[in-house]
Amino acid sequence: MDNIRELISKKDIENEVNKLGEIISKDYAGKDLIVIGVLKGAFIFLADLVRAISLPCQIDFMQAQSYSGVKSTGIVNITKDIEIDVTEKDVIVVEDILDTGRTLYAICETLMAKQAKSVKVCAFLDKPSRRVVDIQADYYCVQIPDNFVVGYGLDYDEQYRNIPYIGQVIQD
Ligand code: IMP
Ligand code: MG
Repeated sequence: MDNIRELISKKDIENEVNKLGEIISKDYAGKDLIVIGVLKGAFIFLADLVRAISLPCQIDFMQAQSYSGVKSTGIVNITKDIEIDVTEKDVIVVEDILDTGRTLYAICETLMAKQAKSVKVCAFLDKPSRRVVDIQADYYCVQIPDNFVVGYGLDYDEQYRNIPYIGQVIQD
């Protein structure tokens, strides 16, 4: 891709995801772990992460949409809910990127309302300077500044999700 500048290489992604998988495997040993991916962006990270977790776990997906009218209201709707019962289970929500935090905040609220025993947030990327709601990543691979990035599941207008590294779109 000649209009994408590589920021995080495929090799670095692999190392970071494997390290995180080991940490999660230690933290959740002996627990009933459920991993919930947030569609669509998390599908590649989740696929790599669960294979780096050496524990039995169940996997499900949710999808959320930010309401975007003329002026962004910040309202988030859950458009696809989970099918697995999370009551009294330890849940990790997996996202591609934690940006303003609104999406993950809404998803975590939904899961807590379903009586999950614990809900933790795991984002591949964390952009802490962009946060507008009170939520932190319990687990993340890389913190980045306020740049719009693509690849490894992240899109710009539904493009670039299949790029195997993280990059920045160069506007010409
Ligand atoms: P939040 O609700 O503002 O935290 O937004 C989370 C969602 O915004 C992510 O799941 C992404 O789909 C999208 N997003 C935020 N920053 C980026 C970016 O740099 N590149 C691509 N998508 C992004
Ligand atoms: Mg997205």
